[in-house]
Amino acid sequence: MAKERILITSALPYVNGIPHLGHLAGCLLPSDIYARFNRLIGNEVLYIGGTDEHGTPSEIGAKKEGMDVYDYTTKYHNLHKDIYEKFNLSFDYFGRTSSKENIETTQQIARELFKNGYIEERESEQMFSITDNMFLPDRYVIGTCPYCGADNARGDQCEKCTKVLDAKDLINPRSAISGATDLEFRKTKHLYITLSKLSDKVREWVNSRNWNKLTIGIANKWLDEGLEDRSITRDLKWGVPVPADVFPDMDGKVFYVWFDAPIGYISITKELLGDEYKKWWRLDGGADNVRYVEFMGKDNVPFHSITFPATLIGADENYKKVDVLKGLSYLNFNGGKFSKSANRGIFADQAIEEFEADYWRYWLIKNAPETDDTDFTFERFAEEINKDLNDVLGNFILRVLKFYNSKFGLEVLHNARNSEKEQEVIKTLSEKVATYTTLLQNMEYRKAMSELRSIWVLGNEYIDEIAPWSVYKTEPEVAGKILVFAMNLIRIFMILARPIIPNTAERILGKLASDGDWIFDVEKEMSVISKGHKFSIPEYVFTKISADKIAELNEKYNK
Ligand code: 2FM
Ligand code: ZN
Repeated sequence: MAKERILITSALPYVNGIPHLGHLAGCLLPSDIYARFNRLIGNEVLYIGGTDEHGTPSEIGAKKEGMDVYDYTTKYHNLHKDIYEKFNLSFDYFGRTSSKENIETTQQIARELFKNGYIEERESEQMFSITDNMFLPDRYVIGTCPYCGADNARGDQCEKCTKVLDAKDLINPRSAISGATDLEFRKTKHLYITLSKLSDKVREWVNSRNWNKLTIGIANKWLDEGLEDRSITRDLKWGVPVPADVFPDMDGKVFYVWFDAPIGYISITKELLGDEYKKWWRLDGGADNVRYVEFMGKDNVPFHSITFPATLIGADENYKKVDVLKGLSYLNFNGGKFSKSANRGIFADQAIEEFEADYWRYWLIKNAPETDDTDFTFERFAEEINKDLNDVLGNFILRVLKFYNSKFGLEVLHNARNSEKEQEVIKTLSEKVATYTTLLQNMEYRKAMSELRSIWVLGNEYIDEIAPWSVYKTEPEVAGKILVFAMNLIRIFMILARPIIPNTAERILGKLASDGDWIFDVEKEMSVISKGHKFSIPEYVFTKISADKIAELNEKYNK
């Protein structure tokens, strides 16, 4: 297979929120699995993540904790980083948008946009909260959505209908900080990106994309409604300062967080690679053969399909822009939203204290909210872990290895059997592996996981049907060969599971004293474990989750 170069970004979570299972299922894990899979099949991968740190929420959070804003974001950045390491997310670099690289790159892109005539200074009226004594950023004004009537719409976007809003559009606006309704419009100056002027170029670019229906639909809907010029600065302290050399009138203002956040993907790459970042981000610097895949929650799709590309198109035609955009839905908790303040649902830091990463990784990707919102319950979680990982996978591995050891010891004395029956298994398995590989390539995770499970089931069916424990009684040699065939199956199963449950896969492969990047030819792989090979027996593969444990979890996290 020809080696591809793949740039992968995972939407940068807001630094001040503790990630919950929904963030993992709806963006982080799908991107990690894609990165791991592509590395395993031999592609060159750059996988970028980080925290989105600017804006009012950080200022407010820092104030609440009595901290300096930078120290506050550092504290939470480290918390994210630590959690993601525990979940085994394999970022090549996990950066932050408050870095000096992001400040420089954001300012540079703003200068380029200005030079090309796509930034204008305009005076506008903005919500000022007398009670809070500050201009309210759009997302801190809440009120009724003029489009769908949702009564809790934020001034930047309505979560219900995903429509991007302006605070002034809201009906019955109030401050999200204090609830105050004594809001008034005051004059202030801001920079605007003239998306209206970029519209044709953006449309032409969108139409050249090979996106899926959903994404193209969202993008074209936006374009058809007409792109409106949008303000890209705010009256705040914590953000990327507007550069005074080109915008002398904008002293003390910063860029809007959604302007600098996606630029973070570029600057995080710079932080890792220095000038070599061009190989991934500049079409005139070697990125012309890069495939760029972005992962995000569905609410982020408009920003990634239109606003960010428009920013890059307006700045310089040589920036690399997204090729594949994977937007996912939400994971809910027992039919409702995860909420830290209401102590509802299990958050990532708590989850990892309860079970090792692979339990979560397996369930969350098997149930990835790909097309519709998905519901998490501890009952469903336990049921699928117990059935799939214990009964189907774990049992197969332990049965085979333990029985072989009990009869022949820990050194392999046989080569894998290769009768008609095994040829049949190889044939079916080859087809399934090809399907599974294609599904991972296409990021169709639910289907991929159901294929993986059916691959594991195949092992069980083989061994149940052929029953080496009975065969042993009359033909011990044949039983040995059957078990060695099954051992090779275990190795294959673990290699295929590596992107999904990496810790377990490494551990079991270690016990088999074996390795392997990816399975391209099942038949060939059947002779890897053969005469003379030594192995040992894992103490466990997974552990079952008891009814008592489920009750305990519900008591703790589902009040
Ligand atoms: O929705 C969010 O969590 C945003 N912080 C995502 C930003 S993605 C990128 F632009 F950084
Ligand atoms: Zn709405």
